Amino acid sequence: MSLFRKKDLAAMLAQAEDGGKGLKRTLGAGNLIALGVGAIIGAGLFVRTAAAAGQAAGPAVTLSFIVAAVGCAFAGLCYAEFAAMIPISGSAYAYSYVTMGETVAWIIGWALIMEYALGAATVSIAWSEYLNKLLGGRIPYEWSHSPFESFTDTLGVLHHGIMNAPALIILLLLTLLLIKGTQESAIVNAIIVFIKVAIVIIFIVLGWQFIRPENHTPYLIPANQPPVLDGAGKVIADYSGVFKHGWGGVLGGAAIVFFAFIGFDAVSTAAQEAKNPKRDMPIGILGSLVVCTILYILFGHVLTGVAPWTDFVDPLKGREASVAYAISTYMTGYGWLATAVTVAILAGFSSVILVMLMGQSRVFYSMANDGLLPKAFSDLHPKFRTPYKSNWILFVFVGAFAAFVPGSVAGDLTSFGTLFAFVLVSLGVWILRRKSPEMERPFKTPLVPLVPILGAIICLAMIYALDNQTLKVAFAWMALGLVVYFAYGRKHSKLN
Ligand code: ALA
Repeated sequence: MSLFRKKDLAAMLAQAEDGGKGLKRTLGAGNLIALGVGAIIGAGLFVRTAAAAGQAAGPAVTLSFIVAAVGCAFAGLCYAEFAAMIPISGSAYAYSYVTMGETVAWIIGWALIMEYALGAATVSIAWSEYLNKLLGGRIPYEWSHSPFESFTDTLGVLHHGIMNAPALIILLLLTLLLIKGTQESAIVNAIIVFIKVAIVIIFIVLGWQFIRPENHTPYLIPANQPPVLDGAGKVIADYSGVFKHGWGGVLGGAAIVFFAFIGFDAVSTAAQEAKNPKRDMPIGILGSLVVCTILYILFGHVLTGVAPWTDFVDPLKGREASVAYAISTYMTGYGWLATAVTVAILAGFSSVILVMLMGQSRVFYSMANDGLLPKAFSDLHPKFRTPYKSNWILFVFVGAFAAFVPGSVAGDLTSFGTLFAFVLVSLGVWILRRKSPEMERPFKTPLVPLVPILGAIICLAMIYALDNQTLKVAFAWMALGLVVYFAYGRKHSKLN
């Protein structure tokens, strides 16, 4: 049996033509852009912008957004070619099954678990931070942080996290919602997107007048930036590493804020529900990317202009719930905005979590249908017709991460999984162009192989800029994936 055995492309296209088990084609280009923006704007913008500024890029986090956006644009062009050509759910996993074979498809499917499942965990942790902000910090540190986090307050008292209870609760609520089958309809999603985008624009417009030019000088973190210590003298930020200051810091920042772009690829998982996927998939994927990139750069400019980036390092200052912090601390007279922003952000995060959990269950569904995962993952609820077993298994896994792992770790692993999928999708476009040049391609990635190669290189560079700890855990996860594949998936594959 070949390591590179593939699923037949014609069979896959027939499956897509068939409307894929009754999924209705209801989404137009506007809905798809809204779906993308709904999944994209979340913790990446409202939490990690400040983290990237405070840890690596300083005010140049705007440039980090540009670097990350360029990498995403190249990958997005490749996604668009696939999504228009093979418009079925399963996204990167499905594309690689026909282009690079089952082993690579499995690897991507396994990496996508990091993207969607850990993405949901990360955003639920951010949800917990903002909820605590809304409640005036009433949730004790111990019950809103993982056991791997601690800090010493100004009175010298050491606080240790026990578990992140609010994160677990929001995951439970959304899991129940998903099982019940109350999927966010295009309309509900559009309302949340409207609120999210409106809040971002209001913050940009109102914040603009509070920008202090000295906060933007120097623009890059200088090489001699001293480390930051907490109350007990423990180092909480060190700027000596290559990706922690100067232009290297811009790349380090890009790896951190890359998270903010994750989700445009989720548009491709809705390919089977698009009215006219050939035309609208590229518009949905690239359109949502463009809208978000513009908003992100302006947002980063205003946030680091309103508050000095150094505030975003300190757990007692703006490290958590940074936007609300910047508004309430520096934008006098706009206290109401801090509350409105927090409520909008909580709603916005919920839709990101929901789409991520849904995306994950779809990938599991495809993998189980192909025999690579146990059938339980594709079993439907007798009444609600949702993959409820899969949702519960997912809740246990995602909940464990959300409750016991720090948000930054889960977030970086999410970025790894996504970047990894981007690299393989980019290369997949090039491979399929060479192997099946005759196939009809409603949307063609321009300048192949240049665009796929550049996309892969930029994404690899961002992987390289992730911290070592993240990379070690990620590689261990991928190795575990291969063990599972050879012990289970390969033997049970329907290709047998
Ligand atoms: N891009 C999504 C977010 O920022 C995952 O929350």
